[in-house]
Amino acid sequence: MEVHVIRRENRQLYAALLDDYFRIRHDIYVGERKWTDLARPDGREIDQFDTDDTVYLLALDHGAIVAGMRMVPTQAPTLLSELFPQLAVSGPIHRSDVYELSRIFVVPRKRGEHGGPRYEAVIQAAAMEYGLSIGLSAFTIVLETWWLPRLLDQGWQARPLGLPSDINGLSTVAVMVEINDQAWTEICRRRAVPGALLVWQGLAAIPRQPLTTFMEAT
Ligand code: COA
Repeated sequence: MEVHVIRRENRQLYAALLDDYFRIRHDIYVGERKWTDLARPDGREIDQFDTDDTVYLLALDHGAIVAGMRMVPTQAPTLLSELFPQLAVSGPIHRSDVYELSRIFVVPRKRGEHGGPRYEAVIQAAAMEYGLSIGLSAFTIVLETWWLPRLLDQGWQARPLGLPSDINGLSTVAVMVEINDQAWTEICRRRAVPGALLVWQGLAAIPRQPLTTFMEAT
């Protein structure tokens, strides 16, 4: 089980995979979720938050994408600051130690229970590992409210930034999730994620791994 880190510095190694990734996003968010505002004639779902500063985490199974998410530094424009500022009562977050998570998905054939840990947990554990590795303090997430109990149940401290609001008929809330070793070890323990997952292929300096290994923490 591997989750690849794709950033500005190693993007060229992943050009073909990223093309698949944007097509999968189109299939899921436009085709399945019916977020039709995101539809594009070329069949790739790419928006203004997909920039050189965006970091992608892609879980691969035999070379094919099975889950993904993107991470946007909050010093740049984010979903929260540009599209849904009403969800943060104290104003949008712009901090060098906070990234926004979005477009969290598992491909339909890999959803739900199967032989190993859920890919939903795998990709989120990988995000926590990434945050720890580069020294972040928190993630912000604009999420549909049904997801909030799932975050709490995996052992994450998620603090609402405002009241839930109806957006296109869906109750939506913005949260801030603390990044710390406990959040990482809890999601690994509760969701049977085997531990560190990130692959830093082509990145010049490999950032430090989480200080606490899963085995030491349990
Ligand atoms: N509305 C309400 N509940 C939802 C939901 C939605 N749009 N999508 C998933 N759920 C619930 C399911 O009902 C299910 O609940 P259950 O376990 O009580 O049956 C649970 O979340 C798990 O969903 P499932 O799809 O079976 O499996 P998963 O945990 O492997 O994957 C997602 C969860 C959200 C990653 C996956 O459904 C997905 O990729 N969805 C499309 C992308 C998306 O909508 N992402 C969120 C916005 S970025």
